[in-house]
Amino acid sequence: MNDRLLNGRRAVVTGAGSGIGAAIALAYARAGADLLLADIDRARLDDTARRCREAGGRVETAVGDEAVANQAIDACVAAFGGIDILVNNAGMLTQSRCADMPTAMWDDMLRVDLRSVFLCARRAVAHMAAQRWGRVINVASQLGIKGGVELCHYAAAKAGVIGFTKSLALEMAPANVLVNAIAPGPIATPLVDGISADWKRAKEASLPLGRFGRVEEVAPTAVLLASDPGGNLYVGQTLGPNSGDVMP
Ligand SMILES: NC(=O)c1ccc[n+]([C@@H]2O[C@H](COP(=O)([O-])OP(=O)(O)OC[C@H]3O[C@@H](n4cnc5c(N)ncnc54)[C@H](O)[C@@H]3O)[C@@H](O)[C@H]2O)c1
Repeated sequence: MNDRLLNGRRAVVTGAGSGIGAAIALAYARAGADLLLADIDRARLDDTARRCREAGGRVETAVGDEAVANQAIDACVAAFGGIDILVNNAGMLTQSRCADMPTAMWDDMLRVDLRSVFLCARRAVAHMAAQRWGRVINVASQLGIKGGVELCHYAAAKAGVIGFTKSLALEMAPANVLVNAIAPGPIATPLVDGISADWKRAKEASLPLGRFGRVEEVAPTAVLLASDPGGNLYVGQTLGPNSGDVMP
């Protein structure tokens, strides 16, 4: 298989400082893409950018919350003359039972995990439609399909991402802008570090594959969806690298 599947493509990856986003950025760099990487954490973002440059990619960065991530689209256009691929990956995890959840916790989650997806996609698809080629890849979660205890805000945001993905896919497919989601199962990243070891052991035991995924096992799905012709027939889909936890 051609290992430069994204040669010359210009991509924005949000939440690229860590975990799945960093792995996608590195896989994109190795596949030949130019990258605008965004995150709220400057140090971690710089580390990802350095590794992507070592892999041969042209890399620019934008630091800030989801509003800045939105501006990352403009920064990509300014740096590379356009945008071909947007990966909406930035996300956070907090936990509370619904009955005890402060409104601010709900609002923060919806702002970071859902509203930012809308903001970045809205800006990106205008550029993509004008050139009649584009790919938007939204990182949802299987919890958006199955729900989770103490995670009603997260599950609601991720279910929202999946519904948003389908709707935007319908609107944009005629312009050859393909919009899809990835809904990973449990993946070993800093996001799940705070969860108790007992819960993780029990969760792993319940998985058909018997283990959490690794970030490098998720990133190739994002390469596939962005690639041409490999990704050309995916429209509004939710792909599930999830160790068999959910089978829609
Ligand atoms: N790890 C899992 O088990 C898992 C499972 C399903 C879905 N996901 C999703 O995958 C995505 C990446 O998660 P991860 O596990 O790699 O987490 P992570 O914590 O390793 O990385 C998330 C990154 O997003 C950044 N970020 C957080 N808020 C931001 C904001 N407001 N603006 C810009 N950047 C921001 C963080 O600084 C961090 O670098 C998230 O959307 C998450 O919900 C993760």
